[in-house]
Amino acid sequence: MGLTIFNSVEATQAFGENWAADLAGGEIFALHGVLGSGKTQLVKGLARGLGYRGDVTSPTFTIIHEYLGGRLPLYHLDLYRMQSEQDAINIDIEEYLPSQGVTVVEWPDRIPSLLPPDARHWELEVVSLTERLIRPRERAD
Ligand SMILES: Nc1ncnc2c1ncn2[C@@H]1O[C@H](COP(=O)(O)OP(=O)(O)OP(=O)(O)O)[C@@H](O)[C@H]1O
Ligand SMILES: [Mg+2]
Repeated sequence: MGLTIFNSVEATQAFGENWAADLAGGEIFALHGVLGSGKTQLVKGLARGLGYRGDVTSPTFTIIHEYLGGRLPLYHLDLYRMQSEQDAINIDIEEYLPSQGVTVVEWPDRIPSLLPPDARHWELEVVSLTERLIRPRERAD
């Protein structure tokens, strides 16, 4: 798949929502992209598409949010504040990689060694105030 441009927050969320239909569990997605590039908005849509009804926010300080009650459990990780592999070990991140559910990781390049080889990497970019872009990318090392 090539690149897709989203003209609004709703379009970004809708992409995530449609994405959910293709998932069977065990998938790991790495979402790269600068602050505000729409990673969490995409996860919002994904959670909704899986049937989760609660709030979705960036787990920047808590590292992991679990969204349960939908068709598959969704694990939302944000490694922004992770400094070292030891940090990741301390909070048992590997428990979520892989899981029976779907795992999405924001800021995966904070600890590249954490992600298994079959993780699927995507890049989000800021195009303008209201536009974002997504494209698949090679695994970052
Ligand atoms: N087309 C768009 N898609 C998604 N977000 C958009 C779009 N246009 C503007 N925005 C704004 O960009 C911001 C995206 O925030 P979001 O929390 O999803 O970013 P993020 O990539 O998760 O950042 P962080 O690395 O800080 O967690 C929101 O404030 C949203 O309103
Ligand atoms: Mg975020």
